[in-house]
Amino acid sequence: MTTAPKAVSDDHVVIFDTTLRDGEQSPGATMSHEEKLEIAALLDEMGVDVIEAGFPIASEGDFNAVSEIAKNSKNSVICGLSRANFKDIDRCWEAVKHAARPRIHTFIGTSPLHRAIPNLDQDQMAERIHETVTHARNLCDNVQWSPMDATRTEHDYLCRVVEIAIKAGATTINIPDTVGYTAPRESADLIRMLIEKVPGADQVIFATHCHNDLGMATANSLAAVEAGARQIECTINGLGERAGNTALEEVVMALKVRHDIMPWTTGIDTRKIMNISRRVASVSGFPVQFNKAIVGKNAFAHESGIHQDGMLKNAETFEIMRPEDVGLAATNLVMGKHSGRAALKDKLRQLGVEMADNQLQDVFVRFKALADRKKEVYDDDILALVQVSDDATPDHLILTDLTVICGTGGQSADMTMTVDGVAKTAQTSGDGPVDAAFNAVKEIFPHEAKLELYQVHAVTKGTDAQATVSVRLNEDGRIVTGSSADTDTVVASVKAYIHALNRLLVRRGKVAAGGDEREISYKDAG
Ligand code: KIV
Ligand code: ZN
Repeated sequence: MTTAPKAVSDDHVVIFDTTLRDGEQSPGATMSHEEKLEIAALLDEMGVDVIEAGFPIASEGDFNAVSEIAKNSKNSVICGLSRANFKDIDRCWEAVKHAARPRIHTFIGTSPLHRAIPNLDQDQMAERIHETVTHARNLCDNVQWSPMDATRTEHDYLCRVVEIAIKAGATTINIPDTVGYTAPRESADLIRMLIEKVPGADQVIFATHCHNDLGMATANSLAAVEAGARQIECTINGLGERAGNTALEEVVMALKVRHDIMPWTTGIDTRKIMNISRRVASVSGFPVQFNKAIVGKNAFAHESGIHQDGMLKNAETFEIMRPEDVGLAATNLVMGKHSGRAALKDKLRQLGVEMADNQLQDVFVRFKALADRKKEVYDDDILALVQVSDDATPDHLILTDLTVICGTGGQSADMTMTVDGVAKTAQTSGDGPVDAAFNAVKEIFPHEAKLELYQVHAVTKGTDAQATVSVRLNEDGRIVTGSSADTDTVVASVKAYIHALNRLLVRRGKVAAGGDEREISYKDAG
């Protein structure tokens, strides 16, 4: 089998986004079907070259999401992950084949530790790689192969298996730093060594896939590009297991801002970065750390006197990129209860959020309710409304009334909630108002789910600020996240809790009907 020639020019770096596969694999980051489609559409629109949409053999849910994303794709290549066996690869192809530009990604762990899992010796594994890549290439002319844990694989063996994969027809060779162990110089040396030593290396694209366990994922990815890699695998906000993956926004902005020393381009419309970052944070339930590079709340905030003074004289004094380059509009127009739909729509557009009319109506209703209670509604308030608004989860449980008593005399809650349309009430006490209110939810709707995360953020300054609350629940390994926003912190907390329970009910239903649960982990390689 001959390989297809490289499809990109030498100065273009392919951006391969794996938010929906490696990112979504992170415990607690599970997204609903609709959310995955929404994120895939945003990735496609922002110019991501390849979207890794999921792991089709893992569950019916993954398969359906990848197929649907493939059908809806406009420009991006749609890729699915598969282990090194024919059944996985066939299932992957069934899902991605609907895309205008499909890709099969197949992998196997090649380091000594990973070879021990399927109990294959070096020769047996080499044979498996030859068979599976050949099989994938007979189905699809765009095949990516990854030696998992490449950075801890013996160099001779790595060269040998990469050569086999190229000869069998792989068009992209991805070199994963699965456990986030490598460092920039080593990352570059490894890619350089493969390009120099492996016959046929000039016919394929080398990719870098870094995890961030030592905080070096971005540096390692860029070093790999310096050495000749032309595909970076990454996720929005660096989402992913443990310390996450390389953050898309970081590598893309580094290549843009430091084009003088890293002369490679990407096809990403960087003005779409903030919007997708917020959506991924919201649907995954993984908030972005305030001082996170590029997309953190403080990334462009200059609060110290010296900085503010410098910024007023010349923005370049302290700013290496403009907020608007990443889709952060400098809008100071405060909204209030007299602002209409058109003003809200315009404000959202300035904030980089495009919405269909039905979604806008939902946000508008919430905006009016908020403006009635809060004199001035700021940009962050509006973004908080957007983040909790467009969720298609059916409301089995709805909060209809809540009175909480708190203070030095103790805390209690009096709650009414409908459960599938039937009103139920409870009076409970607890250690604090939120605990009392959560106890009421448990009394009305008994369940075994454990609270794994309860997180509150004030959206703006001031005591009338909205609180955004995230709640993560775990029921027998099914992990769901709920979120809500309200000027009343206890109400926001209860709504986030109920949102998570509603999502749990959907997950339970899907399992009962044939399984959305992931039965297979990508770590069971082989
Ligand atoms: O980190 C890793 O090795 C992976 C592979 C499946 C590419 O995610
Ligand atoms: Zn990974």
